[in-house]
Amino acid sequence: MRRVLTGIQSSGKPHLGNLLGAILPAIELADSQTEPAYLFIADLHALTTLRDPAQLKANTYAVAATWLAMGLDPHRHVFFRQSDVPEVCELAWYLSCLTPYPMLANAHSFKEKSHNLAEVSAGLFTYPVLMAADILIYRANLIPVGKDQKQHLEITRDIASAFNRTYGELFELPEPIFREEVMILPGIDGRKMSKSYGNTLDPLGDPQELYKRIKRIVTDSKPVEAPKDPDSCTIFKLYAVVAPPPAVEDMRQRYLSGGYGYGAAKEALFEAIEAKFASRRESYQRWMADPEALEAILQAGAEKARTEAQKTLSEVRSAVGVRPPLLRLRKRTPKSLSQRLK
Ligand code: ADP
Ligand code: TRP
Repeated sequence: MRRVLTGIQSSGKPHLGNLLGAILPAIELADSQTEPAYLFIADLHALTTLRDPAQLKANTYAVAATWLAMGLDPHRHVFFRQSDVPEVCELAWYLSCLTPYPMLANAHSFKEKSHNLAEVSAGLFTYPVLMAADILIYRANLIPVGKDQKQHLEITRDIASAFNRTYGELFELPEPIFREEVMILPGIDGRKMSKSYGNTLDPLGDPQELYKRIKRIVTDSKPVEAPKDPDSCTIFKLYAVVAPPPAVEDMRQRYLSGGYGYGAAKEALFEAIEAKFASRRESYQRWMADPEALEAILQAGAEKARTEAQKTLSEVRSAVGVRPPLLRLRKRTPKSLSQRLK
């Protein structure tokens, strides 16, 4: 069985890099399999950086509306919010008891993030354990992620192996699917497009704002008549991933032959983004205007996800030697309960 699973943190509204680098490729991979994929909004992970409850909720809806606007079919796949399946936190605890401290302490992402923070939480430290629980609880085996998540996937595999060695084979080791073909998109300042650099483009947001931000893309100061190098130019790199291939080739030739200015290239980039995203923006806005419909979809997904999570968790509980939850005991008659407790 090939079960695709991936999560996107609700730490902000997805930008062009997230759409083309994570969301679209995950939807394509999900649709290429016969088995439904598990796609979720990682709001519990977002809590490692976000402490504003209203913002967390707003981001969760924005991420949900984005996935749907980008073509995710919630009837075909299991689309849900991480926190609607509390079983994942319990599994994370069992897994954390098998996770060597140095493995987490040496994780690049933890070292990098904790270096820049005044206060480092235990949640940030155990982030990869919750991620392992996300994957293992749904018995997923194909995990599309960006290169930045490579080590987190290795940690998941190590934790799954430790569990199998300790308690017997329960988990299949998941396989990361890296999106080699998608390059890291630059932001308007030329660095990697990232929420944390404030250099993003938001194709599902206000088009006038998008236009203004495109106009701010940093370039060198070559005059219109000079030949230009397309491969070192941010405008061209972005155009290359949104425009149809013949149009990209045409722009490349214009750069190389000179007489084509960055202003014109920016106009062309705006038009190409509009052509690709205008109808998706409308869909995004329709979803955002109907939070009840979003809720209904997320909760229907969570119901399916929970059924699967509960199955795994009950096998894990029995493997580690923890009784089933008390809830089930309460249903017994007092007599059978007292007999069991003797
Ligand atoms: P940010 O850097 O804005 O905080 P995240 O780390 O939340 O973005 O990104 C989630 C996923 O989106 C990453 O795992 C990566 O696959 C993809 N992604 C993020 N930024 C880019 C980018 N500039 N180009 C391509 N893909 C990206
Ligand atoms: N850590 C991932 C990211 O920032 C998001 C995530 C959480 C995830 N749980 C996951 C990705 C499970 C894949 C599988 O991109």
